[in-house]
This record gives sequence, structure tokens and C-alpha cells, in this order.
Amino acid sequence: MAFPLLVPAAGSGQRMGADRNKLLLKLGDRPVLHHTLATALAATAIAEVVLMGQAKDFPAFAEIVAALNPAKPVRWVLGGATRQASVYAGLQALAATTTGVLIHDGARCLATPDLFDRGAAALAQCDGFVAAVPVKDTIKEVVDRQVVGTPPRDRLWAAQTPQGFAYPKILDAHRQALAAGWEVTDDAALFEKLGWPVAIVPGEETNLKITTPQDLAIAQFLLAAR
Ligand code: CTP
Ligand code: MG
Repeated sequence: MAFPLLVPAAGSGQRMGADRNKLLLKLGDRPVLHHTLATALAATAIAEVVLMGQAKDFPAFAEIVAALNPAKPVRWVLGGATRQASVYAGLQALAATTTGVLIHDGARCLATPDLFDRGAAALAQCDGFVAAVPVKDTIKEVVDRQVVGTPPRDRLWAAQTPQGFAYPKILDAHRQALAAGWEVTDDAALFEKLGWPVAIVPGEETNLKITTPQDLAIAQFLLAAR
């Protein structure tokens, strides 16, 4: 079973502190987004890719896609002011007959094709999944710089993307979120708010999200080691 992939790429990368969208910065000799797309296109379970971006980045997207010369359709649509709004824009751009959809942050450029394929296989069996890894640190809950709790670590997992969902359900969830004013940082959180089950697909330790200049340096190291 092959699914469309939505790639949120409409951020501005404020924490990176660069003069443009961090996804356009070079990792090795290619932009970050090139690596993300190359991996997604290599997954057999991805049928097409829809990028959500800011209009000013569309010429750069066109160059990246031209360099990839993909064998599958890749198109881009206008994103929104938040990641959530960008994903909603992407969902609305898919065919009404779509059964399932994968969503993967443009900033996670080191996921492997196998992770997409394992996610898609999970989606054939459930209505929602999130790639995640067990946390290694002990996590403290903090209010006003005071520790207020230590959740048991054996129950804590760090959420990644790809995430994947039955298409009618994730569309419904985003519509309900808009109506209710819910603000979330990933899509699985909408399923959780609605009480809908989300399964874990084992993620990858190296599937980091490029957020700060340090992340770019670590990604450089990991890429060189492959
Ligand atoms: N994203 C998006 N639309 C937005 C904001 C973010 O599509 N309005 C995308 C980013 O391009 C990124 C992913 O969502 O691929 C995860 O977001 P994040 O890592 O926070 O990226 P930025 O928002 O660009 O970075 P920052 O929060 O540091 O500004
Ligand atoms: Mg952000």
C-alpha cells in the first residue's frame, strides 16, 4: 500500500538564527530539504509528495526537486503561520479519495526509507501511528524553574515523524482543532485529544530534527558516517 506524504516546510527556522528557512541551508553539498525528499522518494510506500512552503521559498523548492528528478509526483502548496496550519493546508490539497496519509517534517532529513515503509505498513493495520524512541534522560516537569515532578521514564517516548493517519480521520481532527482553537505541535496530539488510538512505530535515534546550528553539525557527522 502506498500513501501520499505531506512535508511541512513552511517554517522560518528562528532557532537556527539563519537569514532564511533552515531547510534551504546546506548539509554536505545539498540543502537539508534535498536529503529529506531523497529519502522519502526512495521509500516504496510513498506514492507522491506534497510540500507545504512559504511562497518566497518556492523557487528554491523548484530547484531542489529538479535536481532530484523524481520518478514520483512532487508538488508544493502554500503553508500557514503555524506547523498545524501548514499540515491542514496540505491535507486539503489531497484527493478526496485518499485513504491514508503520512506526514514528515522537512527538518528531519536523516530518517531512512525503511522508517517510511514500516510506518506505511503500520497504517495498513491502524488509523494512527507515530514514530517514537524511548527517552534516555530522566525528564523533570518544571514550573517557574522549580521541579514539580519526575514522570516514570519507562513510560516516556520522544515523538518523531513520520506520523501517519487514516485520511478522513486526520482531516476531521484538524477541522475540529480549528473550530475548538486547539494548538498542538504534532498531529498525533489531535488524535489523543479526541481519544482516538495512536500506535507507536519504533523510530530511529539518528532521526533528529534540525533545529539549531548544533543539530546541523551533528547531522553532518551522521551523514558522513553513512
Ligand atoms: N513548519 C511549517 N509551517 C510553519 C512552521 C513550521 O511547515 N508555519 C515546518 C518546518 O518547516 C519544519 C517543521 O514544520 O520542517 C517542524 O518545525 P520546526 O522545527 O519548529 O521549524 P521552524 O518553525 O522553521 O523553526 P523555529 O521553530 O525554530 O522557527
Ligand atoms: Mg517552529
